[in-house]
Amino acid sequence: MIPNERPPGSPFLRPIRIGALLLPGNLFLAPLAGITDLPFRTVTRPMGCVLAFTEMVSASGLIVRDGGSMRYIATNGEDRPLGVQLFGSKPEILREAVRRVTGEIDAALIDFNMGCPARKVLKSGSGAAILKDPAGAARILEALRGATPLPLTVKIRSGWSRLAKNHLEIGRIAESSGVDAVTLHPRTADQGFAGAAAWEDIGELKANLSIPVIGSGDILGPADAERMFSKTGCDAVMIGRGALGNPWIFARIREHLETGRHAPPPAGPERLPVLLDHFEKTLAFYGEKRGIRNFRKHLAWYSRGLHGGAAFRRRAFLLDDRNTLLAEMEGFFGASLEAPPSEPPGAVVEAQDPPEITPSWERKA
Ligand SMILES: Cc1cc2nc3c(=O)[nH]c(=O)nc-3n(C[C@H](O)[C@H](O)[C@H](O)COP(=O)(O)O)c2cc1C
Repeated sequence: MIPNERPPGSPFLRPIRIGALLLPGNLFLAPLAGITDLPFRTVTRPMGCVLAFTEMVSASGLIVRDGGSMRYIATNGEDRPLGVQLFGSKPEILREAVRRVTGEIDAALIDFNMGCPARKVLKSGSGAAILKDPAGAARILEALRGATPLPLTVKIRSGWSRLAKNHLEIGRIAESSGVDAVTLHPRTADQGFAGAAAWEDIGELKANLSIPVIGSGDILGPADAERMFSKTGCDAVMIGRGALGNPWIFARIREHLETGRHAPPPAGPERLPVLLDHFEKTLAFYGEKRGIRNFRKHLAWYSRGLHGGAAFRRRAFLLDDRNTLLAEMEGFFGASLEAPPSEPPGAVVEAQDPPEITPSWERKA
């Protein structure tokens, strides 16, 4: 046996039940605004992503069928099972949005956002602002619970600020309101993305709730997933930034947990068919012009750390025609034989690589 190999099977990979929904595994794709659209979700699924989420969708936008909201919830048969994430603050509007999702979309579950720290979201009393008012949170969760028979989950942060951490209180409220699982990204709202995620908060929540707890935060590679499972006892893990330009992360986590092996991320030529599939799906979804613009950020992530990546991006970002861009991608990734850094978005990347992804609200701040 190779020294780091272990007997097959993993104590961490297992089916998980969320309300009536039985999922065959416990590696999930996190909701990411501007990123987890239908094309990206369907690219991650064959890699072993068991459950994927839409980005947060405004409940009021959904009710008036605003174009952006309808695009966020667009789905198809390859996009199963799907968690639709809503945000809002008014119980009556949320109730109506949940009814629409339940009746009109083939959603496997509805997730409610109580963690977003974006100014625009906070201004309407939504997202992480709800953490400041536990009684209000209970009213909202009870309204949501009453409006749908679908499994209902909630995604939270550890609290509003370091002096007002209340993930346990909010978790208990969720459980007693009939919520079927809680996801915790263990940073406080005022912390943004600074510092390390406080995984001990996930462990604390898990120890105190009987509904499943999903851990989110700082899983950038297979070893991180293993550490989160073992340190927190969480029931499932959610991968966000670690999946950018790196949908293989799900398969690599699975392999690592099952065998102990630590395979490097695929090199350029292996990346090519996946990113071309992603590219074609993006153009089919948004149309050529908008699709090409939208795909640039993914191209930046896919090429991160590859030799000549900065020059490739400079060339590729000037192209707005499908066939020329295709030829450029085939030429670059087809010849790019070395593996990218093992834990994107790792520290060891060439100087001009794209910076680590930061949500737009953080960049403005
Ligand atoms: C660009 C970006 C967009 C995000 N959008 C959402 C969102 O729409 N809804 C949500 O609940 N969390 C959102 N998050 C938070 C992630 O779901 C996740 O909890 C967080 O990034 C920590 O996990 P990670 O370290 O694996 O990225 C976003 C994060 C980033 C970086």
